[in-house]
Amino acid sequence: MVPQPDRSDRRPMLYRRLHRRLRDIGRRWFGAAPPEIVTAVTAAALSYAEPIALDDLHRSVRRLDAACVPGVMVEVGCALGGSAIVIAAAKAAARAFEVYDVFGMPPAPDGNDGPDVHARFAVVTRGESGGIAGQRYYGYRGDLLPEVRANFARHGIDPDAAAVRFVRGLVQDTLHGDGPVAFAHIDCDRYASVRTCLERLAPRLARGGVLVIDDYLVWSGCRRAVDEYFAPRRHEFRLYWRARLHVERR
Ligand SMILES: C[S@@+](CC[C@H](N)C(=O)[O-])C[C@H]1O[C@@H](n2cnc3c(N)ncnc32)[C@H](O)[C@@H]1O
Repeated sequence: MVPQPDRSDRRPMLYRRLHRRLRDIGRRWFGAAPPEIVTAVTAAALSYAEPIALDDLHRSVRRLDAACVPGVMVEVGCALGGSAIVIAAAKAAARAFEVYDVFGMPPAPDGNDGPDVHARFAVVTRGESGGIAGQRYYGYRGDLLPEVRANFARHGIDPDAAAVRFVRGLVQDTLHGDGPVAFAHIDCDRYASVRTCLERLAPRLARGGVLVIDDYLVWSGCRRAVDEYFAPRRHEFRLYWRARLHVERR
């Protein structure tokens, strides 16, 4: 029921590499290079999202600010802070931005997640997961919040001055409120986490506001939560693809 994305990712690896290389060269020559903050976050290995997905976040936030869509901006699933830094850099300084995470070891999946998610989590709990670009996996580093704050500072953003609020804990316990939401980046991998975000954020989405859902094509639990939640609500929301799945209030 969710519209299908561009299938170019089914093409052979060599073709995709060549296509990416040509696209990058084209962007450099013709001025469509990704924003500097995207390049910087990628170079610092702070995000699981590839540049085109970070660029998608950046553009979406800029567009919503320019259109004066009312409400807060939200991210659920911050890890090292890469995508949150891009959102914070793109948004208007005064726009409140709430960033939710446990800031440590991610929570376990449950029976609503498929074998893919459980297999991945087993690797994590055995202590065998690698991190981004060969770093130590973020879940093994203890309290991540000071590290995330330092990553923001390193990219020129003082979270307090930029109206960024970090909210620690399981989103099931921490995500409340009923004010309007202009934008939310939902990047939390598991059924229960994504389902909670949808139940608590979608009803608050302002007209023209957007949810960007990171993991629809990657993790079965996320896909299930999205399919279940939106199946009876398609008259209220429009689902479409950019670099990730977008959901917009009609
Ligand atoms: C893939 S990472 C986020 C990646 C990040 N957005 C980036 O740019 O690389 C997923 C994050 O979701 C968080 N998460 C998952 N379920 C959660 C929940 N129920 N409550 C709070 N955080 C959760 C994990 O702790 C983890 O940091």
